[in-house]
Amino acid sequence: MSRIVYLNGEWLPEAEAKVSVFDRGFLMADAIYEVTCVLDGKLVEYAGHAARLQRSARELKLALPLDDDELLSVHREIVARNSVDQGMIYLQLTRGVAERDFVFPPEGTPTTLVLFTQTKNVLVNRAAETGISVALLPDLRWARRDIKTVQLLYPSMAKMEAKARGADDAWLYEDGMVTEGSAATAHIVTSDGRLVTRDLSRALLAGVTRASILELAKAHGMIVEERAFSPQEALQAREAFITSATNFVVSVVKVDDATIGDGTPGEFARVLRNHYVETRRAAAI
Ligand code: PDD
Repeated sequence: MSRIVYLNGEWLPEAEAKVSVFDRGFLMADAIYEVTCVLDGKLVEYAGHAARLQRSARELKLALPLDDDELLSVHREIVARNSVDQGMIYLQLTRGVAERDFVFPPEGTPTTLVLFTQTKNVLVNRAAETGISVALLPDLRWARRDIKTVQLLYPSMAKMEAKARGADDAWLYEDGMVTEGSAATAHIVTSDGRLVTRDLSRALLAGVTRASILELAKAHGMIVEERAFSPQEALQAREAFITSATNFVVSVVKVDDATIGDGTPGEFARVLRNHYVETRRAAAI
């Protein structure tokens, strides 16, 4: 079934949704994006994703073409038009169409806003049941990873390299410390049961799921340390896991050649995943 895509105020069958070859998203990766999970036809953690979108736009001096109410309506309408029960909404905002130039086009040049959906069973996730393996690779992305831009070539290359090494995904490190996963936040649980997650900076994306997991962990009496951890500490962790919008919480059971815990998803990750799904599903709008 063909999807209905949102493009600059129009609802179009996906084959008809076309963007110019001069779009700066295409030529310069001059664009930001968000991925919002859909559960029961509702938006999960919408406020967090909308706030991060606004921040990314501000940092890059990109003007959002819709106000808050319109943005929410478009999210709701795309779910309804595509009858999505479970899956995700992808949103991308580019600086629009202009002659190729490193200088930004003049203020007022229309931006390009695209939304589309993907249907996917997010509740039943084989990776969450078995856990995943990650390969440790150097973080060679640009230095403003706090902005959710579409410059995803290095994360793609890292994922390919991880797969070539027999792993499911990559964890990236820089200056001797883990930054994050290729497209997810990295967390470990120490041998004495403390949850360690890197503190926010320009080195990593402020995960919306990360914020909720830290809140839930604290609410359940877990000790949370927001600080960087080394690849060595990850290899010796009692548990490791990733968080992201559509994965929620997925255990990491192998880091390079080291088995984490007994090689199956650990208790912390299981409890946090269950609490996350229960509370965020109930709060979805
Ligand atoms: N990725 N770090 C990076 C580099 C990411 O790309 C993502 C999300 C996260 C987790 O953020 P959140 O919890 O807000 O989804 C962390 C999305 C899902 C993607 O690119 O598909």
